[in-house]
Amino acid sequence: MYTLGIDIGGTKIAGAICDDDNKIISQWREPTPEDPDEINAVIVEMYRKSVELYGSVPRMGISAAGNVKEDRRTVTFSANIAQWIDYPLADRIEELTNHECKVIVENDANCAGWGEYILGTGRGSKNMVMLTVGTGLGGAIVINGKLYRGSFGMAAELGHLPMVSDGDFCGCGLRGCAERYTSGNALEHFAKSAVRRMPQKAKRLMELCDGDINTLEGKMVSQAAQEGDELGLYAFGKIGEWLGRTMAAIAAVLDPDLFVIGGGVVSVGDILLEPARYNYVRFLQAAAYREHAKVLAATAGGDAGMIGAADLARIEED
Ligand code: BGC
Ligand code: NA
Ligand code: ZN
Repeated sequence: MYTLGIDIGGTKIAGAICDDDNKIISQWREPTPEDPDEINAVIVEMYRKSVELYGSVPRMGISAAGNVKEDRRTVTFSANIAQWIDYPLADRIEELTNHECKVIVENDANCAGWGEYILGTGRGSKNMVMLTVGTGLGGAIVINGKLYRGSFGMAAELGHLPMVSDGDFCGCGLRGCAERYTSGNALEHFAKSAVRRMPQKAKRLMELCDGDINTLEGKMVSQAAQEGDELGLYAFGKIGEWLGRTMAAIAAVLDPDLFVIGGGVVSVGDILLEPARYNYVRFLQAAAYREHAKVLAATAGGDAGMIGAADLARIEED
């Protein structure tokens, strides 16, 4: 069976037709419109093209950044798409495709985590946790080969673990969430504040942002850190420390055998993973008397979310 996987990101909507071996056989990309109806139109157009190419496409999995209800049909809240409040995304797409395609919706990090589990770093893990370190911090939990979704579909919102009381304000409305301290945004934040406090050490970062600190981006911090720049390494040390602490908190609940770290910033490899591993053990309860989960980079690539969404749609029971 051919299955369509769709990944609705903040800037682009990506779609891919996957075969039964989770191989992508065709794919498309479009900018993400703001309006939900226009988003639906982009998805329906990708569906139409898939049917044109492959005949019948009976199932579609949609990955969306936000909270998805237990029925896998309704987005209850998304920081990216303001109008998605209790939004029946699966119903809409099924109507627009004349009920010829069964649609499921799943949280973006859950889809990426499932993709890593079926064809990336997570293969063979018994209990796996994935953390996607992107704009925000996403989470996925796979227990005994199944994606853990909680009682109401809201499990694995690991970016909103409350880490600091009266901490920084988070996009979710709360304060002190993990993603304020470990994410792409947090990386920028730590680098900018270091530049302001230590201007004498900021030569390289200032060069990379053409002298305007407000335009400093995560990928510039990655470049500086890879060149050995002190402030770049400092910023990664900070998000790595918080990542380790977050993993220790997760281990207290789930005791996984593997943490998979994904998202753009993990391209720096050990610059992030070493402080993360060090602090994971530092904050892990009874660390000297237990086995430690592996902490490894994601390997399924940027398409893992689409492929994961397609696979989840394929294996969903009727
Ligand atoms: C959202 C999650 C999402 C994650 C990654 C968080 O801010 O709350 O639902 O999975 O970002 O996009
Ligand atoms: Na999640
Ligand atoms: Zn939050």
